[in-house]
Amino acid sequence: MKTSNGPIGLFDSGVGGLTVARAIARKLPKESIIYFGDTAHLPFGEKSSDAIKTFSLKICQHLIKNGAKAIVIACNSASSVAFDYLQERINVPIFNVIDPLIDELQKLKPKGIGVWGTHATINSQVYKHKLEKSLPGTPTYSLATPLLVPLIEENHLNGEITESIIQYYLQESKINNIDHLVLACTHYPLIASQISKHLDMRITLLRTPKIVADWMAIELDNLGLLNKEESAVNHSFEVSDYTETFKKISRIFFGDGIILQEQNIWKSTDSV
Ligand code: DGL
Repeated sequence: MKTSNGPIGLFDSGVGGLTVARAIARKLPKESIIYFGDTAHLPFGEKSSDAIKTFSLKICQHLIKNGAKAIVIACNSASSVAFDYLQERINVPIFNVIDPLIDELQKLKPKGIGVWGTHATINSQVYKHKLEKSLPGTPTYSLATPLLVPLIEENHLNGEITESIIQYYLQESKINNIDHLVLACTHYPLIASQISKHLDMRITLLRTPKIVADWMAIELDNLGLLNKEESAVNHSFEVSDYTETFKKISRIFFGDGIILQEQNIWKSTDSV
């Protein structure tokens, strides 16, 4: 049985999940975070479901070995294709980033929903199926927007190239038919303000990291897993392949004091 003062484990392919990690750190300031960015396998969105499942399981085992009391799959691609698979195989509570967004959309009663995500997320049709169930009759327009992740990982958060790709994807979206746009990739909130700039005023861009953090606060509380002690918060950040961008963005989010470690978990033979 995991104790309530262990860290919350989060993982993604790279910097994207840091958007969720920061929102959780803000919402739950007593919680320590252990974050793993699988930069060696980035982008997840272009990998097969089997590959994403294999990477995700190994990362979860590593996070649990390092004390994670619960795990947030801070990646829509892995949430789409690996959530059930992981839930059956690991022994701590695990959460995806999709259910909180579906729940929020249900409250917002949208007339039409646009979903931007990676190929893995869009091809899985998880959003489409969940939305058909929770908001029957509401049209959903999904678009794979794979050029955005490499741009973000290269730290092109603004500028001409980023702007023109955003505009290109907006032209490809059925923008006249939607009033809510879901950034169904945890990297995309890093360019949310650029997307907003080109977005019609009547379209609401969902604040996905905050929605996930609010959901996690309730879920962890329900499970009795929130830290009640005044112990010092200790965040740790690991990547499978060290990158300067990861270092830069993690410091923007969590300050200069953070320690980033390269951890090649693919060499070890851990199991839970
Ligand atoms: N940030 C991830 C997601 O939410 C993965 C992006 C990628 O590596 O392709 O889907």
